[in-house]
Amino acid sequence: MPESVAPLIKIVLESYQLSEAGIHGVAHWARVLENGLRLAETTGTNVEIVKLFAVLHGSRRLNDGHDPEHGPRAAEFARALHNDVFHLSDHDFGLLHRACAGHTHERTHPDITIQTCWDADRLDLGRVGMQPHPSRLCTEIAKQVQTINWAHGRGSMGYVPEFVRDAWGAIAFDENPTRMILLQLRDKSTHQFVHPTGACDQSSRNQSKNATCRIARDWFSVFIATRCQPAKVMVAWSGCRIRPRT
Ligand SMILES: [Fe+2]
Repeated sequence: MPESVAPLIKIVLESYQLSEAGIHGVAHWARVLENGLRLAETTGTNVEIVKLFAVLHGSRRLNDGHDPEHGPRAAEFARALHNDVFHLSDHDFGLLHRACAGHTHERTHPDITIQTCWDADRLDLGRVGMQPHPSRLCTEIAKQVQTINWAHGRGSMGYVPEFVRDAWGAIAFDENPTRMILLQLRDKSTHQFVHPTGACDQSSRNQSKNATCRIARDWFSVFIATRCQPAKVMVAWSGCRIRPRT
């Protein structure tokens, strides 16, 4: 099912300003997609919207840090691609546009499809050392401990779903037994390799480097989240941290 957005992935990456292997890159999109599909089994939402949101919501980021306008930019990027690269009804496209535009700063929304999209994204906070908190989630299924633990485990370990390599054309490899890191993306049509930072200017490279340093500092959070289970420790540590952008 994730295969259907493979052509969109290729188009998004043509103008993606950051590293595909970064904290907001391809592996994050893939986990958001799988989170969304899992939630949709219960919420019954339109999975096409969920898949498109996963790939598009962070596609117009200009840095890996504070970029509050990347949601509205993604929504307008989606509008430019609508009825050309992908097709939705006007109603469904309105939901996708709203989900992209508001995912950075709105807590919840009355529509269950938009809620599912936002939860799918927020459940992947483990990649930056944060455990998703039920109060920041919208749907009942996302707030369940089993859902949070499942998604948090994948996010915190940098899990890369199989379809990223098989269907999306990205090459992933295991640097150590627990963490897979995307290094190169392959253009399936030409079989040429594109270095993840090859299309970035110096500014973007510096931003990616800063994000990498931030992740390195966050390893203490990951250690607490994965090794020290007492809830009080988690709450105390989480309270000291600035909530990262999704
Ligand atoms: Fe995201």
